[in-house]
Amino acid sequence: MIEISHLTKRYGDFTAVNDISFEVRPGEVLGFLGPNGAGKSTTMKMITGFLAPTSGTVRVCGHDVQAEPLAAKARLGYLPEGAPCYAEMTVRGFLEFIADVRGLRGERRRSRLDDVIGRLALEGVLEQVIETLSKGFKRRVGLAMALLDDPDVLILDEPTDGLDPNQKHQVRTLINAMARDKIIVISTHILEEVDAVCNRAIIIADGRILADDTPQALAARSPSGRLDEVFRSITQGARGTPPATDAALEAAAHA
Ligand SMILES: Nc1ncnc2c1ncn2[C@@H]1O[C@H](COP(=O)(O)OP(=O)(O)O)[C@@H](O)[C@H]1O
Ligand SMILES: [Mg+2]
Repeated sequence: MIEISHLTKRYGDFTAVNDISFEVRPGEVLGFLGPNGAGKSTTMKMITGFLAPTSGTVRVCGHDVQAEPLAAKARLGYLPEGAPCYAEMTVRGFLEFIADVRGLRGERRRSRLDDVIGRLALEGVLEQVIETLSKGFKRRVGLAMALLDDPDVLILDEPTDGLDPNQKHQVRTLINAMARDKIIVISTHILEEVDAVCNRAIIIADGRILADDTPQALAARSPSGRLDEVFRSITQGARGTPPATDAALEAAAHA
């Protein structure tokens, strides 16, 4: 389980994440939705212990991320925003390095490496230097890193951002295949993705939670049953969103 309590992050007098609380349980695939700048990545960085909160706490599988960072991180897999990897390493070298960092040894090390290499179809690029890979392959290497230790909790920050439709489909299929026994949190601003993989959606804007429901129940809030319309009306006026209405957009375009 992930337990997030009154989580807040301030940069100077700017509040990026503002008193957020929620829990996520095994079997939940939580879509973390919000306009650019809403505070999704900042929240994920605090869940994974990458960034210290200004106040509030995060517990991962019972471990406080600040007080027991190693115990919490041992249960987590994290794909950071943009899926950064060590660009000058080969795919094999990078994954072996991550296996060492995670303390994998012997037969389990071999079988976990084989599993992620197979699952993400990396056999053909193992000896290639990461910086020479296409964007889709780089993302797959990042996902392989996140999955290597078979974590109970997966935090994926825009896992399909910048991928082509086929690659997006592959990543969604992968997430669906893992969803049953894990906790998965994915951030996205692609609403169709929420429909495709999530059984719960939190909409966040200006660092606050504005909605927390199933994608179906959220969509049903609009007469048209369309999630994008609900998203627009809920996040209207928040930072990172365009003027409120199409008419206002028109007016802005002709100003
Ligand atoms: N290191 C930082 N210093 C100052 N402001 C930051 C920093 N990191 C993020 N922010 C700001 O915090 C807000 C939330 O950012 P972020 O969590 O990356 O949003 P999202 O992932 O939802 O697009 C944005 O307005 C961003 O500019
Ligand atoms: Mg982000």
